[in-house]
Amino acid sequence: MKKWILLLFFATNLCFSNNPVWSKTGHRVIGEVAQENLTKKAAKAIAELLDGQGLAAVSNFADLIKADSSYRKFSAWHYVNYPANKKYGDEPPSKEGDLILGIEKCVEIIRNQNSSKADKLFYLKMLVHLIGDLHQPMHVSRLEDKGGNDIQVRWFNKGSNLHRVWDSNMVDDYGMSYTELASTLPRLSKAEKKAIQKGDIYDWVEESHDLANEIYGSVEMGEKLYYRYSYDWFATVEIQLEKGGLRLAKVLNNLF
Ligand code: ADE
Ligand code: ZN
Ligand code: ZN
Repeated sequence: MKKWILLLFFATNLCFSNNPVWSKTGHRVIGEVAQENLTKKAAKAIAELLDGQGLAAVSNFADLIKADSSYRKFSAWHYVNYPANKKYGDEPPSKEGDLILGIEKCVEIIRNQNSSKADKLFYLKMLVHLIGDLHQPMHVSRLEDKGGNDIQVRWFNKGSNLHRVWDSNMVDDYGMSYTELASTLPRLSKAEKKAIQKGDIYDWVEESHDLANEIYGSVEMGEKLYYRYSYDWFATVEIQLEKGGLRLAKVLNNLF
């Protein structure tokens, strides 16, 4: 009997282990939006590299490899933390690397004509994911609470935390597939798209950081969150997905 209880304990722990990710759906939406905004030239080069797969299909690769310890050195690439009143770069970067250093590395490898096809493929898949994480505000946040992971809240009477609410609770509870969600995002004019694509990762990281600072004020520790939270914040989630997709397209159109 004791053995079964122990087994159950470990199995439950495995299922609910703290492996926070901008939901699979969120990353796919960003891949899909980017795919729709590639230039013909970039779309062709990327299709060749991905053997016909689209960006949505490879957008979760960087999370999948987390389970393999030989890829451990990439795990710090998924986020960047710095104090609320600082800018990225004001302080020395984390020794393990961070989201910005990770994106820079991907761009460098893809751009280098001497890189092997296998490396270009690997770092393209990483890049698609990381530009997504750059637009999940809690991945550009504070070290002291691990990007909101230590801010416990209840989500519809289940245990959660601020990070997870933004990674997955809101998107998953919305209940749409990634194609449905991508196709129902607010329609934007050419000028609006262009405005979103302005700047570079150093501008976008500050925008996400500012948003994270605002989100920290949206809950109290232990708060019980229900529909009201999504009413207030889901439009922001949608904007972040749209921005992530359009900016990923910009980065890729420049590279390919
Ligand atoms: N671990 C520490 N900080 C984190 C963050 N911002 N996002 C995800 N995991 C983290
Ligand atoms: Zn996360
Ligand atoms: Zn990630």
